[in-house]
Amino acid sequence: MNYVLAVVIGYLIGSISFSFIWGRLFQGIDIRKHGSGNAGATNTLRVMGVGPALTVLALDIAKGVLAVWVGWWLDPVSLLLPILAGFAAIVGHNWPVFFAFRGGKGIATMIGVVATLCFVPGLVAGLVGIASIVVTRFVSLGSLLFAALLPVSLWAFGREPELIVFSLALAALAFYRHRSNIVKLAQGKENKLSFRRSNR
Ligand code: G3P
Repeated sequence: MNYVLAVVIGYLIGSISFSFIWGRLFQGIDIRKHGSGNAGATNTLRVMGVGPALTVLALDIAKGVLAVWVGWWLDPVSLLLPILAGFAAIVGHNWPVFFAFRGGKGIATMIGVVATLCFVPGLVAGLVGIASIVVTRFVSLGSLLFAALLPVSLWAFGREPELIVFSLALAALAFYRHRSNIVKLAQGKENKLSFRRSNR
């Protein structure tokens, strides 16, 4: 029963699409019809600016943290429950039940889950991702590097097999959600990070 609760509560938490809510409340727009069409912090930056983007980023990360806490609250000694709740939150972020199942790409919520469950291995993978964003200005590339390196980092730190399997599932999910970014990167057409607002 706890497993079902962890998945359902995690999914519902993840389904709160803060970029969509911010766009609707403060700009009267559907973020999914602007910029890249993604309901996430990067597209919020592109379409609505730095303040909204940082707020959305923090709230999307918080969803991941909260979902893991729910798993621990259901069973403080289980590793599987926070993993399931965290995974469900990322799925909810990507396919939110409250917003016609059209959400984001899951990276900010993944950061919250990973930072709570396995901070140091996550930080190592995250720093490589951030460095690549600084150098190339491709957020998608940094996101993909973070997702791809997390299993390697967890393995290098000798972490639990459950966490490594979980991180492989997260990497698969991240690559699946970034399909269009991968095509654009290959074609040299991917958007670069910019603090100037645009609608592209
Ligand atoms: O996490 C999302 C980011 O990697 C890409 O976002 O809007 O450029 O597709 P976007």
